[in-house]
Amino acid sequence: MAQPQIKLYYKNVIADVIGDEHGITPAQLKELAKKTSPLISKLNKERKAGKTPYRNLPYNTKTLRQVKKLVREVKKGCDNLVVLGIGGSALGNIALQTALNPYMYNLDDKHRRGPRLFVFDNIDPPQFASFLDWVGDKLHKTIFNVISKSGQTSETAAQFLIIRKLLLNRLGRKGLQNQVIATTDAKKGTLRKITDDLKLRCLEVPDGVGGRFSVLGAVGLFSAAMCGIDIDSLLAGARDMDKKVSRKDFYKNPAAIIAAINWHLYNRGKKISVMMPYSYALKDLADWYRQLWAESLGKARDLADNEVHIGPTPIKALGATDQHSQIQLYREGPNDKLFTFLEVRDFGKPLKIGRAPDCAPELGFLAGKDLGTLLNNEKRATEYALLQDKRPCLTILFDRINAYTVGQFIYLYEVTTSFAGALFNINPYDQDAVELGKEATFALMGMPDYYKPGYKYEKFAQKIRSATKVDTKYLV
Ligand code: PA5
Repeated sequence: MAQPQIKLYYKNVIADVIGDEHGITPAQLKELAKKTSPLISKLNKERKAGKTPYRNLPYNTKTLRQVKKLVREVKKGCDNLVVLGIGGSALGNIALQTALNPYMYNLDDKHRRGPRLFVFDNIDPPQFASFLDWVGDKLHKTIFNVISKSGQTSETAAQFLIIRKLLLNRLGRKGLQNQVIATTDAKKGTLRKITDDLKLRCLEVPDGVGGRFSVLGAVGLFSAAMCGIDIDSLLAGARDMDKKVSRKDFYKNPAAIIAAINWHLYNRGKKISVMMPYSYALKDLADWYRQLWAESLGKARDLADNEVHIGPTPIKALGATDQHSQIQLYREGPNDKLFTFLEVRDFGKPLKIGRAPDCAPELGFLAGKDLGTLLNNEKRATEYALLQDKRPCLTILFDRINAYTVGQFIYLYEVTTSFAGALFNINPYDQDAVELGKEATFALMGMPDYYKPGYKYEKFAQKIRSATKVDTKYLV
């Protein structure tokens, strides 16, 4: 049976629809094809040379076997799965869960296909304390999957140290070993050291794969498989998309087209890129995209080391919710955005709207209609309204939401990011700007100098304290 698909629809960025000033003319599209086509070969070559190992994650049968084996080992006795991680070590897990399990998953003990899932990608004290109070008497039925490539991320490390102490106190060393699974670098890093020392069960973040490109590896697959998500299908969808995004013909390559449109419109004043799913299930994929796009494309220097300070600002919106919060700005505010809608053709079982009460016949137009039809018509209505104001709109159309189409989407946007990086002529795989904040936190929290020979954390901490000291003159 043919698998459902996702497709890109890009007519509504074209000048015929929104005019020459804001749209892409046929000549410009031709130019874009000319500019992007050599980049398709370049990316395919880089991939063959092993420079973009994330491209091969959907083919990694070894990881798949390891993940499935571990799931078989621990799933039976596990009522709660807790992911400790942040950024690329959490956003993919959240996105897969929201997309592919029912909204009431954690509360529905009867139908749930795995343990309850909690992903802590923050260090908010009341939030974490509330969870600890709840989980305190359920520890022996709770698996903690601590995910950190480096192991030095303060947030994840702090969470882990709290859980480690709790488990040691309540269940002892053996209990700690039973309840914790680490996902980290195969050879190096702090979490690797801890994993080896405590003899924890573990999965690997493959070499050369940054957090935000890692969801199709052990990072995302373990929690997904534990929660009953069909990870074979997820990877099959990604492999299918791999064929499409490797196509040499620009006009047949959706990743090349999306990246080229984004790049072209960015250079013509559309510096903001709004992703707006008309599906609650897809909302956290937009969050995942936001990190992927922001960390990969926001760069100070290009590959020739010129100062460029470049990068589209990704924004997440949710249809229909944000029609009632953002659309006023999007239509009448500055025309500086490219919109990407995510639309779902078939939501599954129809949900019929009830009849209108006799006192409110004006609601009769809704009666008997399907809620999915209303949502999709709202997308169409919003798109129409934006086009009236000459705002460029793309749509990614999902036949249905399932593991296959979500795998396609993830792979499509990962490769789109690589194309966008090539067009902006920057390195999309580093994130140097995140490091200063991490280092400053180390310093403020009292990291000893021996951690980095030659580095003076205490001096650095003094400098930060003086630069950020509250000047009461400005405090009202
Ligand atoms: O995408 C990235 O590389 C980052 O968002 C990291 O995933 C994030 O900073 C967490 O890093 P780590 O996995 O080392 O704890």
